Amino acid sequence: MAPRPRKTGSSKVSPAAHQLLDWYDRHARDLPWRISPKARKKGAKADPYKVWLSEIMLQQTTVKTVGPYFLKFVELWPRVEDLAAASSAEVMSAWAGLGYYSRARNLHACAKVVAERHGGKFPQTEEGLLALPGIGPYTAAAVASIAFDEPAEVMDGNVERVVSRLFAIDTPLPAAKVEIKERLKELVPQKRPGDFAQATMDLGATLCSPKKPACSLCPWAEECEANAKGIAETLPVKPPKKAKPTRYGSAYWLTDAKGHVLLRTRPPKGLLGGMDEVPGSEWSEHDADPTTDAAPTSASWQQLPGTVTHVFTHFALELTVYTAQAATRGKVKGDWVPLDALAQRALPTVMRKIVAHADPEAAKQFRKKA
Ligand code: ADE
Repeated sequence: MAPRPRKTGSSKVSPAAHQLLDWYDRHARDLPWRISPKARKKGAKADPYKVWLSEIMLQQTTVKTVGPYFLKFVELWPRVEDLAAASSAEVMSAWAGLGYYSRARNLHACAKVVAERHGGKFPQTEEGLLALPGIGPYTAAAVASIAFDEPAEVMDGNVERVVSRLFAIDTPLPAAKVEIKERLKELVPQKRPGDFAQATMDLGATLCSPKKPACSLCPWAEECEANAKGIAETLPVKPPKKAKPTRYGSAYWLTDAKGHVLLRTRPPKGLLGGMDEVPGSEWSEHDADPTTDAAPTSASWQQLPGTVTHVFTHFALELTVYTAQAATRGKVKGDWVPLDALAQRALPTVMRKIVAHADPEAAKQFRKKA
């Protein structure tokens, strides 16, 4: 029998890590980067490279989306040294579709630092990890905890929800984070902190869901203050959402007689930096009429019906697409890419949407890729 949770000054029972760990032993999600609790108990060790790679990919992205990308990366580059030796174009192309492309640039930079300056071994402490490119407080804590069993406070959105409910913290986010972290610190066990971190994430991703939490199945149901008060769905309190502005622009799908299409590479810094693109105009907040003024060459441009829309973190984008066939290649800037080789290019999701709008047949190759 597991020991009973300790009692506080009042008659209230404190939540204890072992309750969650017992639940995790039975219900841990089977994830491609994870060492199951059973295997861990038998002595299997996490590979810090895989833990780091998965945590970078999982920022702002769902477990379901990340799965195929993670598998592709570890197949192409099984060790951090292999990733470090890849070209930037290869890494950006393998990442294409995952979004937040500065993560891919930093991922590659980090792999090089670990391979070249740390002999291929990741530092084991949060402090050491924080010094690496692209590793912030969340990732440092997650890698230290999951890969090296350091008792760090690993706090992502799921964990914030679990802890704010457990202690009925109703201060709005992001101010609530300080208190949530203090509470989490009291919960993190010295034994199995890595499994505890993954268990809190799993609880948040499964039972302790944002809208309809399954409190009756929760290992902390009795201890949860929000459950006792019947207010679990209302927590954590989110700050009011800022309205997203819409930006408008035009994109130019230029093919040649051989069935190649003109692509460009975006400048290395900034939004979608270093990724490939269908040439386009500036994106402006003025809903001006679509235009071919910024087209890469003069041609008989045809405006396609409808628009391509895409939502970025800070704005929504609406693009009008023009198509033309170039009589000759002329002196345009960019690469002429065979239509059946687009999946090998680093085309982010918004650009794939443009491909799908201009040439649905060519866009089919993206489905096969990831
Ligand atoms: N989300 C972010 N990191 C995770 C992990 N290690 N396991 C499950 N979900 C996660």
